[in-house]
Amino acid sequence: MADVLDIDQVEGCGARVRGLDVRKASDAQIDAIREAVFHRGVVAFDDQVLTPDDQIAFARRIAPIVVNRYFPKTERWPEIAKVEKTEDQKANIGGGWHTDHSYDAAPAMGSVLLAIHTPPTGGDTLFADMYEALPDATKARIAGLEAPHASAHVFGEGGAYAGTDQANLSGHPDTPEAVHPVVVTHPGSGRKALFVNPAFTREVVGLPAEEGAALLTELYAHAIQPRFVARYAWRPGTMAVWDNRCTWHFAMNDYHGHYRLMHRITLDGGPLDA
Ligand code: OGA
Ligand code: MN
Repeated sequence: MADVLDIDQVEGCGARVRGLDVRKASDAQIDAIREAVFHRGVVAFDDQVLTPDDQIAFARRIAPIVVNRYFPKTERWPEIAKVEKTEDQKANIGGGWHTDHSYDAAPAMGSVLLAIHTPPTGGDTLFADMYEALPDATKARIAGLEAPHASAHVFGEGGAYAGTDQANLSGHPDTPEAVHPVVVTHPGSGRKALFVNPAFTREVVGLPAEEGAALLTELYAHAIQPRFVARYAWRPGTMAVWDNRCTWHFAMNDYHGHYRLMHRITLDGGPLDA
């Protein structure tokens, strides 16, 4: 793979591809990008000059597209969700550790996020590596456990965004729930990854509420240690492809008074097994 892509590992989580215009990527390069996403969790590119149609075409070469239920869509392209914070808004989208769509029975594979407008400073995204966050000792202890993932407390009536200036993200009647193994086998890499996250997972099947919450708190604290985390900065034209099955992400909200706009395309996934 290394021969078709100029790709550097990013300490903590992910990789960065240099010198590639994704519009001109060969099939071998697309395959190498997909493999890198599966194994490294996130792959970033700088200086892309992409129309919405270009971004959609690129995303489709990685995986089929699925449309997010909750995010506002760009006017002409339903495949593209707007992840936006205006000069006047205080709340941002994704401002806590999470992975997208884990409340679906077939969670999204990942996303293709393109920076359209970035604040002068701040607005970085943190990614955490859920392969590395799973040491062998923990694996044995949590093997076989399952956990429910819910969306109502975030996107439903009175959900996390209600009462904020991103309130259009709450109050949705369609709030799926799904149960997944706490540790999944990544369908693309065959490796085990931790698949619970602080935004959508708050209990463990078969454990008393307090015990489940305590176990999750311990797993979450372990997972966000700096050695498993990388910070990605954006400028217009920076694009990242990430894999929800083996990473978490966190959108920093440290640029009040400035505009930030990202175009997100969600990639379809499938059911996950232990
Ligand atoms: C998302 C998300 C992070 C960001 O699009 O799912 O969490 O930094 N975005 O905008
Ligand atoms: Mn997200």
